[in-house]
Amino acid sequence: MTTHTPRTLGTTGPQVFPLGLGCMGMSGAYGEADRAESIATVHAALEAGVTLLDTGDFYGMGHNELLVSEALRTAPAALRENALVSVKFGALRGPDGDWYGFDGRPAAVKNFAAYSLQRLGVDHIDVYRPARLDPDVPIEETVGAIAELVEKGYVRHIGLSEVGADTIRRAAATAPIADLQIEYALISRGPEREILPTLRELGIAVTAYGVLSRGLLSGHVTPGQQYAANDFRAHSPRFQGDNLQQNLQLVEALRKIAEQKGVSVAQIAIAWVLSRGEDIVPLIGAKTRARLDEALGALDVTLDAADLAAVEAAVPADAAVGERYAPAQMAMLDSER
Ligand SMILES: NC(=O)c1ccc[n+]([C@@H]2O[C@H](COP(=O)([O-])OP(=O)(O)OC[C@H]3O[C@@H](n4cnc5c(N)ncnc54)[C@H](OP(=O)(O)O)[C@@H]3O)[C@@H](O)[C@H]2O)c1
Repeated sequence: MTTHTPRTLGTTGPQVFPLGLGCMGMSGAYGEADRAESIATVHAALEAGVTLLDTGDFYGMGHNELLVSEALRTAPAALRENALVSVKFGALRGPDGDWYGFDGRPAAVKNFAAYSLQRLGVDHIDVYRPARLDPDVPIEETVGAIAELVEKGYVRHIGLSEVGADTIRRAAATAPIADLQIEYALISRGPEREILPTLRELGIAVTAYGVLSRGLLSGHVTPGQQYAANDFRAHSPRFQGDNLQQNLQLVEALRKIAEQKGVSVAQIAIAWVLSRGEDIVPLIGAKTRARLDEALGALDVTLDAADLAAVEAAVPADAAVGERYAPAQMAMLDSER
C-alpha cells in the first residue's frame, strides 16, 4: 500500500484518489479567484488522477457548482467520467452573501437537490450532504430525504458534515453513510477524541478539510498579513493579531522539519493527515495549478515514526491559539458539542 493507493469512502462509498479537490476557494472564500485558472486547476487535478471534487450549493450562491459544471463539461471525456462530485447543501444565504442558518427539512433537501442537479448539469450527485445539522430538524428526517433521492437515482451516496458522534450514530441507523466531512489538521485535532473512533466503529470515512488550517499551515502566510473583509481569514480567530504571530511560530517549527526533508511546509501538513489512516481523504483547497502541484507532492512524502514524532513535537495537539471558527459559527457546529 502506497500513499497513491486509492482510498474508499466508508464500507458503502466509492473508491477515490487519496486527495480530493475542494473547490470553495474558487468562489471567493479566500479572496479573488481567477475563473480560467480555477477551471485549469480542476482539469489539472483530474489529469493527475484526482477523482473527488467537493463543492457546496452555497459557495458563491451557485457560482461554485456552475464553475465545477463548466470544468467537467470542458474536460476530456475520460477524465470527466472518473470525476465524483460531493455537494453540500442546507446553508441559507442572501444575495449580499449573508448567512441565515440551515434548512434540513425533507422538502428543502429535495428542493436544494433539484437545483444542484440543474446547475451541475448532471443526472445524479455522487455524494450529497447537509453542510450543518439543522437544529430544528431531526437528522433522521434530513438523511431520510437524501435516502429517498438515492432510491430514485438522483444521489449515489450520503455524507455528513461537522456533526458529532450522537448525530453520526442516528444518521447511520437511518441509511448507509459514506463519509463525514470535518476539519482535521495538525492544529485541529478535535475529531480524535470521540468522532474518529465512532466513524471507525461504523465504517464511515473522513473527508478532511482545512488540512492547512485555511492556509495558516501552508508556510505561505506572513506575519501581519491582511485579508479583504469578505475573505474567511479576516474573521478567523487563528488569523488575528497576536494569535497569528503565535500560530506562525508553530509553522516555523514545522518548516525546520520540512527543510530537513527537502519538502514544503504544506506538504508536511498534508502528509501528516494522510498518515492518520487509510479512511481519511484530505480535501485540498487549491484554486491555482501551482498550489495544486505543491499539494499533490505531499503524496510523495513518507513520514516514518521518527518524522511523525518530530512533527507532533513541533506542533503539539491543541497548540494553536484561537478557535477554528468565529463564535457565531462555532455555535453551529454539532461536532463541537
Ligand atoms: N464541510 C465543511 O464545513 C467545509 C468547510 C470548509 C471547507 N470545506 C471544503 O474543504 C475544502 C478544503 O478546505 P479549505 O479550503 O478550508 O482548506 P485548506 O486546504 O486548509 O486551505 C486552503 C487555503 O490554503 C492556501 N494554500 C496555501 N498553499 C496551499 C497548497 N499547497 N495547496 C492548497 N492550498 C494552499 C489556499 O490559498 P492560496 O492559494 O491563496 O494560498 C487557501 O486559502 C474546501 O474547498 C471545501 O470544499 C468544507
